[in-house]
Amino acid sequence: MLVLGLETSCDETAAAVVADGRRVLADVVSSQALVHAEYGGVVPEVASRQHLATVVPVIQHAIRDAGVRLGDLDAIAVTCGPGLVGALLVGVETAKALAYALGKPVLGVNHLAGHMAAAFLDEGRPAPPWPHLALVVSGGHTLLVKVEGPRRLRTLGSTRDDAAGEAYDKVAKRLGLGYPGGALVDAQAARGNPEAFKLPRALPGRDDLDFSFSGLKTAVATLLGGAGPAAAEDPQWLADLCASFQAAVVDVLVRKARRALEREGLRHLVVCGGVAANRGLRSALAVAAAADDFTLYVPAPAHCTDNAAMIAAAGTQRLQTGATARADTLTVDPGLPLEGP
Ligand code: KG4
Ligand code: ZN
Repeated sequence: MLVLGLETSCDETAAAVVADGRRVLADVVSSQALVHAEYGGVVPEVASRQHLATVVPVIQHAIRDAGVRLGDLDAIAVTCGPGLVGALLVGVETAKALAYALGKPVLGVNHLAGHMAAAFLDEGRPAPPWPHLALVVSGGHTLLVKVEGPRRLRTLGSTRDDAAGEAYDKVAKRLGLGYPGGALVDAQAARGNPEAFKLPRALPGRDDLDFSFSGLKTAVATLLGGAGPAAAEDPQWLADLCASFQAAVVDVLVRKARRALEREGLRHLVVCGGVAANRGLRSALAVAAAADDFTLYVPAPAHCTDNAAMIAAAGTQRLQTGATARADTLTVDPGLPLEGP
Protein backbone atom coordinates (compact mmCIF):
# COMPACT_ATOMS: atom_id res chain seq x y z
CA MET A 1 0.00 0.00 0.00
CA LEU A 2 1.47 3.32 -1.13
CA VAL A 3 0.44 6.33 0.99
CA LEU A 4 1.24 10.03 0.64
CA GLY A 5 1.51 11.66 4.09
CA LEU A 6 1.00 15.39 4.63
CA GLU A 7 1.87 17.34 7.81
CA THR A 8 1.21 21.06 8.36
CA SER A 9 0.07 21.25 12.01
CA CYS A 10 2.71 23.71 13.24
CA ASP A 11 5.82 25.15 11.59
CA GLU A 12 6.96 22.33 9.31
CA THR A 13 5.48 21.75 5.85
CA ALA A 14 6.13 18.07 5.16
CA ALA A 15 5.19 15.43 2.58
CA ALA A 16 6.33 11.81 2.42
CA VAL A 17 5.63 8.66 0.46
CA VAL A 18 5.62 5.45 2.53
CA ALA A 19 5.08 1.87 1.31
CA ASP A 20 3.18 -0.57 3.55
CA GLY A 21 3.42 1.75 6.54
CA ARG A 22 7.14 1.08 7.01
CA ARG A 23 9.31 1.73 3.94
CA VAL A 24 10.06 5.45 3.42
CA LEU A 25 10.38 6.22 -0.32
CA ALA A 26 10.46 10.00 0.08
CA ASP A 27 10.56 12.27 3.10
CA VAL A 28 10.54 16.05 2.53
CA VAL A 29 10.42 18.58 5.39
CA SER A 30 10.45 22.32 4.77
CA SER A 31 11.05 24.01 8.13
CA GLN A 32 9.83 27.52 8.89
CA ALA A 33 12.05 27.75 12.00
CA LEU A 34 14.18 30.59 10.57
CA VAL A 35 11.08 32.63 9.69
CA HIS A 36 9.69 32.33 13.24
CA ALA A 37 13.07 32.67 15.00
CA GLU A 38 12.99 36.47 14.88
CA TYR A 39 9.73 36.41 16.92
CA GLY A 40 11.08 33.85 19.43
CA GLY A 41 8.23 31.41 18.72
CA VAL A 42 5.70 30.29 16.11
CA VAL A 43 3.40 33.06 14.81
CA PRO A 44 0.21 31.24 13.67
CA GLU A 45 -0.72 33.61 10.83
CA VAL A 46 2.82 33.54 9.45
CA ALA A 47 2.82 29.73 9.69
CA SER A 48 -0.39 29.44 7.61
CA ARG A 49 0.99 31.71 4.89
CA GLN A 50 4.26 29.80 4.74
CA HIS A 51 2.40 26.48 4.45
CA LEU A 52 0.32 27.92 1.58
CA ALA A 53 3.45 28.99 -0.26
CA THR A 54 5.31 25.69 0.16
CA VAL A 55 2.78 22.86 0.34
CA VAL A 56 2.46 22.17 -3.40
CA PRO A 57 6.23 22.28 -4.16
CA VAL A 58 6.88 20.05 -1.13
CA ILE A 59 4.37 17.45 -2.40
CA GLN A 60 5.87 17.62 -5.91
CA HIS A 61 9.33 17.15 -4.43
CA ALA A 62 8.22 14.06 -2.45
CA ILE A 63 6.53 12.44 -5.45
CA ARG A 64 9.65 13.07 -7.56
CA ASP A 65 11.99 11.70 -4.84
CA ALA A 66 9.86 8.57 -4.45
CA GLY A 67 10.05 7.89 -8.19
CA VAL A 68 6.29 7.30 -8.38
CA ARG A 69 3.36 9.01 -10.10
CA LEU A 70 0.43 10.55 -8.21
CA GLY A 71 -1.80 7.92 -9.84
CA ASP A 72 0.23 5.15 -8.13
CA LEU A 73 -0.89 6.27 -4.66
CA ASP A 74 -3.44 4.16 -2.82
CA ALA A 75 -4.42 6.87 -0.34
CA ILE A 76 -3.53 10.25 1.19
CA ALA A 77 -3.11 10.67 4.97
CA VAL A 78 -3.10 14.15 6.46
CA THR A 79 -2.76 15.58 9.97
CA CYS A 80 -6.19 16.92 11.01
CA GLY A 81 -5.31 17.91 14.63
CA PRO A 82 -4.20 18.84 17.20
CA GLY A 83 -2.34 21.94 16.03
CA LEU A 84 -2.80 25.48 14.75
CA VAL A 85 -6.16 25.79 13.01
CA GLY A 86 -4.98 27.83 9.99
CA ALA A 87 -1.92 25.64 9.53
CA LEU A 88 -3.96 22.43 9.72
CA LEU A 89 -6.49 23.79 7.19
CA VAL A 90 -3.79 24.24 4.54
CA GLY A 91 -2.79 20.56 4.75
CA VAL A 92 -6.32 19.16 5.01
CA GLU A 93 -7.79 21.22 2.18
CA THR A 94 -4.80 20.45 -0.06
CA ALA A 95 -5.15 16.73 0.70
CA LYS A 96 -8.88 16.81 -0.03
CA ALA A 97 -8.39 18.63 -3.33
CA LEU A 98 -5.67 16.19 -4.40
CA ALA A 99 -7.75 13.17 -3.37
CA TYR A 100 -10.74 14.50 -5.29
CA ALA A 101 -8.67 15.14 -8.43
CA LEU A 102 -7.06 11.67 -8.25
CA GLY A 103 -10.16 9.77 -7.14
CA LYS A 104 -8.26 8.40 -4.11
CA PRO A 105 -9.29 8.11 -0.44
CA VAL A 106 -8.09 10.71 2.07
CA LEU A 107 -7.75 9.97 5.77
CA GLY A 108 -7.33 12.34 8.74
CA VAL A 109 -4.58 11.39 11.22
CA ASN A 110 -4.07 12.59 14.80
CA HIS A 111 -0.64 14.26 14.98
CA LEU A 112 0.23 12.41 18.22
CA ALA A 113 -0.80 9.05 16.75
CA GLY A 114 1.58 10.01 13.94
CA HIS A 115 4.45 10.56 16.39
CA MET A 116 3.78 7.12 17.90
CA ALA A 117 3.70 5.49 14.44
CA ALA A 118 7.20 6.86 13.68
CA ALA A 119 8.53 3.88 15.65
CA PHE A 120 7.18 1.59 12.89
CA LEU A 121 9.20 3.23 10.10
CA ASP A 122 11.83 0.77 8.95
CA GLU A 123 15.18 1.99 10.18
CA GLY A 124 16.79 -1.44 10.18
CA ARG A 125 15.09 -2.66 13.34
CA PRO A 126 11.90 -4.60 14.11
CA ALA A 127 8.58 -2.82 14.61
CA PRO A 128 7.29 -2.58 18.21
CA PRO A 129 4.73 -5.27 19.03
CA TRP A 130 1.35 -4.47 20.63
CA PRO A 131 0.68 -3.85 23.45
CA HIS A 132 3.41 -1.34 24.25
CA LEU A 133 3.89 1.87 26.21
CA ALA A 134 4.49 5.14 24.34
CA LEU A 135 6.19 8.15 25.90
CA VAL A 136 5.21 11.11 23.71
CA VAL A 137 7.40 14.15 24.37
CA SER A 138 6.88 17.05 21.99
CA GLY A 139 6.58 20.83 22.02
CA GLY A 140 2.89 20.69 22.85
CA HIS A 141 2.43 17.38 24.66
CA THR A 142 3.95 15.08 27.29
CA LEU A 143 2.03 11.83 27.56
CA LEU A 144 2.32 8.23 28.63
CA VAL A 145 0.01 6.09 26.51
CA LYS A 146 -0.82 2.40 26.59
CA VAL A 147 -1.03 1.34 22.94
CA GLU A 148 -3.00 -1.87 22.41
CA GLY A 149 -3.37 -1.41 18.64
CA PRO A 150 -3.39 1.38 16.02
CA ARG A 151 -6.77 2.64 17.21
CA ARG A 152 -6.71 1.36 20.76
CA LEU A 153 -4.99 3.97 22.91
CA ARG A 154 -5.35 4.77 26.61
CA THR A 155 -3.68 7.81 28.18
CA LEU A 156 -2.07 6.88 31.52
CA GLY A 157 -0.54 10.25 32.37
CA SER A 158 0.08 13.71 30.94
CA THR A 159 1.58 17.04 31.90
CA ARG A 160 -0.28 19.27 34.32
CA ASP A 161 1.37 22.41 32.96
CA ASP A 162 4.17 22.80 30.40
CA ALA A 163 5.08 20.09 27.90
CA ALA A 164 8.70 18.89 28.07
CA GLY A 165 9.59 20.56 24.73
CA GLU A 166 7.86 23.76 25.81
CA ALA A 167 10.00 23.83 28.99
CA TYR A 168 13.11 23.41 26.82
CA ASP A 169 12.00 26.23 24.51
CA LYS A 170 11.18 28.60 27.40
CA VAL A 171 14.46 27.90 29.21
CA ALA A 172 16.40 28.41 25.95
CA LYS A 173 14.64 31.74 25.44
CA ARG A 174 15.49 32.90 29.01
CA LEU A 175 19.10 31.90 28.46
CA GLY A 176 19.21 33.82 25.18
CA LEU A 177 20.00 30.68 23.17
CA GLY A 178 17.33 31.20 20.49
CA TYR A 179 14.44 29.28 18.96
CA PRO A 180 13.66 26.39 18.72
CA GLY A 181 15.45 25.76 21.97
CA GLY A 182 15.50 21.99 22.56
CA ALA A 183 18.40 21.10 20.31
CA LEU A 184 20.35 24.21 21.45
CA VAL A 185 20.02 23.32 25.16
CA ASP A 186 20.90 19.70 24.28
CA ALA A 187 24.13 20.86 22.59
CA GLN A 188 25.06 23.07 25.58
CA ALA A 189 24.25 20.24 28.02
CA ALA A 190 26.76 17.95 26.28
CA ARG A 191 29.56 20.27 27.52
CA GLY A 192 28.23 20.83 31.04
CA ASN A 193 28.18 19.20 34.47
CA PRO A 194 24.67 17.79 35.22
CA GLU A 195 25.34 17.98 38.96
CA ALA A 196 26.45 21.62 39.03
CA PHE A 197 23.00 22.90 40.11
CA LYS A 198 20.41 21.14 42.26
CA LEU A 199 17.12 21.58 40.41
CA PRO A 200 13.69 20.27 41.52
CA ARG A 201 12.08 17.10 40.16
CA ALA A 202 8.27 17.05 40.37
CA LEU A 203 7.49 13.44 41.30
CA PRO A 204 4.06 13.29 42.89
CA GLY A 205 2.71 10.06 44.54
CA ARG A 206 4.03 6.66 43.54
CA ASP A 207 1.13 5.69 41.28
CA ASP A 208 0.83 9.07 39.67
CA LEU A 209 1.94 9.11 36.03
CA ASP A 210 1.43 12.83 35.42
CA PHE A 211 4.22 15.34 34.82
CA SER A 212 4.90 18.94 35.81
CA PHE A 213 7.71 21.09 34.45
CA SER A 214 6.71 24.61 35.48
CA GLY A 215 8.51 24.44 38.87
CA LEU A 216 11.72 23.45 37.12
CA LYS A 217 11.36 26.29 34.61
CA THR A 218 10.82 28.77 37.48
CA ALA A 219 13.86 27.38 39.34
CA VAL A 220 16.04 28.04 36.28
CA ALA A 221 14.64 31.59 35.98
CA THR A 222 15.34 32.21 39.70
CA LEU A 223 18.91 30.93 39.36
CA LEU A 224 19.45 33.12 36.34
CA GLY A 225 18.02 36.17 38.12
CA GLY A 226 20.22 35.56 41.18
CA ALA A 227 23.40 35.01 39.19
CA GLY A 228 23.11 38.24 37.17
CA PRO A 229 23.89 38.90 33.50
CA ALA A 230 27.66 38.26 33.81
CA ALA A 231 27.11 34.60 34.76
CA ALA A 232 25.02 33.92 31.64
CA GLU A 233 27.92 35.10 29.55
CA ASP A 234 30.26 32.56 31.12
CA PRO A 235 30.14 29.61 28.67
CA GLN A 236 30.86 27.01 31.37
CA TRP A 237 28.16 28.38 33.70
CA LEU A 238 25.67 28.26 30.83
CA ALA A 239 26.66 24.71 29.85
CA ASP A 240 26.41 23.56 33.49
CA LEU A 241 22.96 25.09 33.89
CA CYS A 242 21.75 23.46 30.64
CA ALA A 243 23.18 20.10 31.73
CA SER A 244 21.52 20.36 35.17
CA PHE A 245 18.18 21.34 33.60
CA GLN A 246 18.39 18.48 31.10
CA ALA A 247 19.28 16.00 33.86
CA ALA A 248 16.14 17.01 35.81
CA VAL A 249 13.84 16.65 32.74
CA VAL A 250 15.38 13.32 31.73
CA ASP A 251 15.27 11.99 35.28
CA VAL A 252 11.51 12.62 35.59
CA LEU A 253 10.70 11.24 32.11
CA VAL A 254 12.70 8.06 32.70
CA ARG A 255 11.34 7.46 36.20
CA LYS A 256 7.72 7.86 35.09
CA ALA A 257 8.19 5.65 32.02
CA ARG A 258 9.72 2.90 34.19
CA ARG A 259 6.87 3.24 36.67
CA ALA A 260 4.26 2.94 33.90
CA LEU A 261 5.96 -0.11 32.35
CA GLU A 262 6.02 -1.82 35.72
CA ARG A 263 2.46 -0.88 36.66
CA GLU A 264 1.01 -2.03 33.31
CA GLY A 265 3.23 -5.10 33.00
CA LEU A 266 4.58 -3.93 29.61
CA ARG A 267 7.97 -4.87 28.14
CA HIS A 268 8.20 -2.55 25.10
CA LEU A 269 8.66 1.22 25.20
CA VAL A 270 8.27 3.60 22.24
CA VAL A 271 9.68 7.11 22.77
CA CYS A 272 8.62 9.72 20.23
CA GLY A 273 8.07 13.44 19.58
CA GLY A 274 10.67 16.19 19.18
CA VAL A 275 12.23 15.74 22.64
CA ALA A 276 12.92 12.06 21.80
CA ALA A 277 15.72 13.47 19.60
CA ASN A 278 17.44 14.52 22.85
CA ARG A 279 20.76 12.73 23.36
CA GLY A 280 20.53 12.72 27.16
CA LEU A 281 17.05 11.15 27.09
CA ARG A 282 18.01 8.54 24.49
CA SER A 283 21.02 7.37 26.44
CA ALA A 284 19.29 7.39 29.86
CA LEU A 285 16.46 5.27 28.43
CA ALA A 286 18.93 2.83 26.88
CA VAL A 287 20.52 2.38 30.33
CA ALA A 288 17.06 1.86 31.93
CA ALA A 289 16.11 -0.67 29.21
CA ALA A 290 19.19 -2.75 29.97
CA ALA A 291 18.62 -2.54 33.75
CA ASP A 292 14.86 -3.33 33.68
CA ASP A 293 14.97 -5.68 30.68
CA PHE A 294 12.52 -3.89 28.37
CA THR A 295 12.96 -3.18 24.66
CA LEU A 296 13.32 0.43 23.59
CA TYR A 297 12.13 1.78 20.22
CA VAL A 298 13.27 5.30 19.38
CA PRO A 299 12.82 6.69 15.85
CA ALA A 300 15.77 8.28 14.05
CA PRO A 301 16.11 11.94 15.18
CA ALA A 302 14.58 13.18 11.90
CA HIS A 303 11.48 11.08 12.58
CA CYS A 304 11.20 12.31 16.20
CA THR A 305 10.60 15.92 15.16
CA ASP A 306 7.63 16.74 12.91
CA ASN A 307 7.62 14.91 9.58
CA ALA A 308 5.08 13.39 7.18
CA ALA A 309 6.47 9.83 7.03
CA MET A 310 4.99 9.25 10.51
CA ILE A 311 1.60 10.53 9.29
CA ALA A 312 1.68 8.18 6.29
CA ALA A 313 2.62 5.28 8.63
CA ALA A 314 -0.24 6.04 11.05
CA GLY A 315 -2.69 6.47 8.13
CA THR A 316 -1.66 3.12 6.66
CA GLN A 317 -2.16 1.37 10.00
CA ARG A 318 -5.60 2.89 10.33
CA LEU A 319 -6.59 1.88 6.79
CA GLN A 320 -5.30 -1.64 7.42
CA THR A 321 -7.50 -1.92 10.50
CA GLY A 322 -10.65 -0.83 8.73
CA ALA A 323 -10.84 2.96 9.15
CA THR A 324 -12.99 4.58 6.51
CA ALA A 325 -11.57 7.46 4.55
CA ARG A 326 -14.22 10.10 3.77
CA ALA A 327 -13.35 13.42 2.20
CA ASP A 328 -16.81 14.92 2.80
CA THR A 329 -16.62 14.61 6.61
CA LEU A 330 -12.88 15.30 7.00
CA THR A 331 -12.28 18.52 8.88
CA VAL A 332 -9.67 20.03 11.20
CA ASP A 333 -9.84 20.00 15.02
CA PRO A 334 -7.14 22.11 16.74
CA GLY A 335 -7.84 20.31 20.04
CA LEU A 336 -8.36 16.81 18.61
CA PRO A 337 -8.28 14.29 21.50
CA LEU A 338 -5.96 11.30 21.17
CA GLU A 339 -8.56 8.78 22.19
CA GLY A 340 -11.12 9.89 19.58
CA PRO A 341 -12.64 7.59 16.91
O1 KG4 B 1 7.31 16.95 17.86
P1 KG4 B 1 7.83 18.29 17.53
O2 KG4 B 1 8.71 18.47 16.33
O3 KG4 B 1 6.64 19.30 17.37
C1 KG4 B 1 5.50 19.24 18.17
O4 KG4 B 1 4.63 18.38 17.87
O5 KG4 B 1 5.47 20.00 19.16
O6 KG4 B 1 8.56 18.78 18.85
C2 KG4 B 1 9.17 20.03 18.90
C3 KG4 B 1 9.80 20.19 20.27
C4 KG4 B 1 10.34 21.57 20.51
O7 KG4 B 1 9.90 22.01 21.78
C5 KG4 B 1 11.84 21.39 20.47
O8 KG4 B 1 12.53 22.32 21.26
C6 KG4 B 1 11.98 19.98 20.99
O9 KG4 B 1 10.91 19.28 20.40
N1 KG4 B 1 13.26 19.34 20.60
C7 KG4 B 1 14.19 18.95 21.50
C8 KG4 B 1 15.30 18.45 20.76
N2 KG4 B 1 14.99 18.58 19.42
C9 KG4 B 1 13.74 19.11 19.37
N3 KG4 B 1 14.18 18.97 22.85
C10 KG4 B 1 15.27 18.50 23.50
N4 KG4 B 1 16.37 18.03 22.85
C11 KG4 B 1 16.43 17.98 21.50
N5 KG4 B 1 17.52 17.52 20.88
ZN1 ZN C 1 4.91 17.02 16.66
